[in-house]
Amino acid sequence: MYYKFGVKIIKLNGKDIIILGIESSCDDTSAAILKNGEILSNIVAGQKVHESFGGVVPELASRAHQQNIIPVVEMALKQANVGKNDLSAVVFTRGPGLLGSLIVGTSFSKSLALGLSIPLVEVNHMQGHVLAHFIKNPENNYPSFPFLCLTVSGGHTQIVLVKDYFEMEILGQTIDDAAGEAFDKAAKIMGLPYPGGPLIDKYGKDGDYKRFKFNMANLPGYDYSFSGLKTNILYFLQKEMANNPSFIEENLNDICASYQATIIQTLFKKLIKAANDYEITDIAIAGGVSANSLLRSELGRIGQREGWNTFIPKFEYCTDNAGMIAIAGYYKFLKGEFVGQDVVPDPRMKF
Ligand code: KG4
Ligand code: ZN
Repeated sequence: MYYKFGVKIIKLNGKDIIILGIESSCDDTSAAILKNGEILSNIVAGQKVHESFGGVVPELASRAHQQNIIPVVEMALKQANVGKNDLSAVVFTRGPGLLGSLIVGTSFSKSLALGLSIPLVEVNHMQGHVLAHFIKNPENNYPSFPFLCLTVSGGHTQIVLVKDYFEMEILGQTIDDAAGEAFDKAAKIMGLPYPGGPLIDKYGKDGDYKRFKFNMANLPGYDYSFSGLKTNILYFLQKEMANNPSFIEENLNDICASYQATIIQTLFKKLIKAANDYEITDIAIAGGVSANSLLRSELGRIGQREGWNTFIPKFEYCTDNAGMIAIAGYYKFLKGEFVGQDVVPDPRMKF
């Protein structure tokens, strides 16, 4: 195999394609090794430093990425039993995300690709979430184009029409907070540590989702709005706490179940509308919130009712991870889509 930066010259000669993926867009430092589309390792180092702040502190995140990136990459290589010189390319998240965090992964990837004289491939983080569905799985079960992907994370909530690997159209999205933010902010109001989404999920499992009623905005088309819901729960809890200061403690499971159900019902309302309008039956979910147990079970239940083929990534490929970046980069690598050493992070990267 040989190559030139930015130029489509690629000869594989039947050699294995071994990709190192790097993800550092927010508060997880991750490295993965992908061999011919199959994940050999996917190491994720989270950052506990943000827990007490109720959200990610950008400056602390970029410092932690600097500390974590080399050990994480070394661990990924070791676990995959792959040497640096076996790599065919380095793939990294160029955006969207936090600038300071993206700089760490981008600079590291550029230096490594330069040092090893191998191609460098950029990936859009949100496309990575969608393309996580194409990581090789034992069932050989992948969505067919065109499909819809509900991409729900801490920074985004989108209904994406996926026409091909890199041909995606956003049909609708949140006009304010993302679904993950709606989870995390409510958790913060209830005194739970960051990220609160998984905790609301956990407590909600034992709660009664019909106990409390929260109101969701109903926008036209396929767009969402979650900021009102956050205010709704804040005022509700303030009122209840004025009468009973232990209200949250005593009703935590029911509050979480009711709040979570409101978010999930809202997500499905627009997803069903988009599936019907576009007559699409392959429906996928992606992004950190797709780790949510109610979202996963509802996709199965509603999917059966609507006659959908449904696709849920393996748990470890839902939240931020380099495996999804590596698979997206693999398809770009096959097309010879490389970037040069002049590439810079793009915190507001669009696709
Ligand atoms: O995709 P991701 O790891 O990072 C971003 O790109 O934002 O998503 C993180 C978001 C956080 O808001 C977190 O609370 C949420 O995903 N999340 C969950 C669950 N697991 C992660 N939300 C609800 N239920 C979960 N089980
Ligand atoms: Zn993400």
